[in-house]
Amino acid sequence: MAPPEELRARLAGAGQSHLLRFWAELAPAERDSLRAALALLPAEELGAHCRRAAAEARAAERGPPERSGRSMEPVPAEFLGSVSRSEPATLARWEAEGFRQISQSKVAVLLLAGGQGTRLGVAYPKGMYRVGLPSGKTLYQIQAERIRKLEQLAGKKYSTTCTIPWYIMTSEFTLGPTERFFIEHDYFDLDKTNVIMFEQRMLPAVTFDGKAILEQKGKVAMAPDGNGGLYRALVDNKILDDMERRGIQYIHVYCVDNILVKMADPVFIGFCVSKGADCGAKVVEKAYPTEPVGVVCRVDGVYQVVEYSEISLETAQMRSPDGRLVYSAGNICNHFFTLGFLETVAQKFEPQLKQHVAIKKVPYVDEEGNLVKPLKPNGIKLEKFVFDVFQFSKNFVAFEVLREEEFSPLKNADTADTDTPTAARRALLSQHYRWALKAGARFLDENGSRIPEKLNLSGTEDPPAVCEISPLVSYFGEGLEAHMRSKAFYSPFILDESKIEMLEDA
Ligand code: UD1
Repeated sequence: MAPPEELRARLAGAGQSHLLRFWAELAPAERDSLRAALALLPAEELGAHCRRAAAEARAAERGPPERSGRSMEPVPAEFLGSVSRSEPATLARWEAEGFRQISQSKVAVLLLAGGQGTRLGVAYPKGMYRVGLPSGKTLYQIQAERIRKLEQLAGKKYSTTCTIPWYIMTSEFTLGPTERFFIEHDYFDLDKTNVIMFEQRMLPAVTFDGKAILEQKGKVAMAPDGNGGLYRALVDNKILDDMERRGIQYIHVYCVDNILVKMADPVFIGFCVSKGADCGAKVVEKAYPTEPVGVVCRVDGVYQVVEYSEISLETAQMRSPDGRLVYSAGNICNHFFTLGFLETVAQKFEPQLKQHVAIKKVPYVDEEGNLVKPLKPNGIKLEKFVFDVFQFSKNFVAFEVLREEEFSPLKNADTADTDTPTAARRALLSQHYRWALKAGARFLDENGSRIPEKLNLSGTEDPPAVCEISPLVSYFGEGLEAHMRSKAFYSPFILDESKIEMLEDA
């Protein structure tokens, strides 16, 4: 059976006739699904997307942006706040301001969870990953518990009942499993009306000569449109209206894989609000020139992140006289936005966001209909980046935090050297061990002998005692003295709500 004439003509006009090459062989259900997929991509848009992908890929070959005559400079000191360089009283003031906003239910968190987690190599969403903590918790559970604790803390401080809505951006790959996971776990005791999942768009992968790739005879190869797909997804799914209805004013956007993420961090929120910022980014000092983190900087006087895939080695390696990297403001994908800023971006600037090129190996069916797994990259994916809206900010600020307290991303499987499950588990357990020592705890081995304390852990070693503290007990190390001071605990120890009751009874 021939393809519908109108569809054939439209695809021919867009130079994409090959998408119907196997039409005659498709079962009726496969034809329906191909037609439905193509209906979501009007042929003119599809044609334009394919031409653009090929053109952007050619442009990307010419090299990183700063080589084409643009001037890069680091974030000026006056726009860079810092946890380590601020007085305790100043930090306390920002924190109190953040808590005040949270207590009035003006703060939401928004999780970017539409990525495919290719580097980690699991077939399910990253948030469902367990890094091997004694409690067996997943990243999603840790995040849910941090939200619950923060609501309690803010409510208690300002005698209110407050909510931090949790918006979760998913993609075709992650929505179904994420939804099922949350239902299975009863939304980790959050009110499910405050957990709002929505889906970002997908875009076709394209060959170097501008043809959408068929991954099966009746299926176009599609990939999420990048975490900057957020801005379209906010409009598609009426999320900004939902925020407005709830009275949200500030949104903390973050990525799924950082086990130390301080969601809705009152200090960061308070800092940004106190500075009157409409847009902000948390950064850590970059560890080494080729670390795969973007750098927050200015290009031609405008704030940007230059992504790790787009910076030249010479620039990444530049050092100031004090030996520090010139471009040291490492992006940890923790962004602050006012609702007003998001509305302006979504309504006005979204179409201007740059399309970044990723060249990937995309499985495809060849002209004879054989499935081919390419050995060399053959496909272009275009992605928008969440931070590309910084350029539209009227008052941008950056805030530097300590890596060991706030950044350990899970990117790779344990076969890699960095950003692995082992590194994430170690980072969290080291932090909890430090909190416990600071609260006055001691640890004992299985024979009851005291385990000597070690204060300066290198980051590549496990803490001498294992102590995991539930976020429901402490969000960021606060309130532990009451339960731990001058007490000895057998390692491994999990401090959760049930233990607190026992400790109080003891
Ligand atoms: C990201 C940052 C990088 C930063 C690093 C820190 C971007 C574009 N890059 O890089 O500057 O230094 O984190 O860890 O933000 N995602 C979606 N939809 C997509 C693609 C990704 O929601 O289409 C989500 C992922 O699920 C993840 C987050 O975006 O939560 C970051 O994506 P990932 O691909 O892991 O970014 P990196 O390359 O590590």
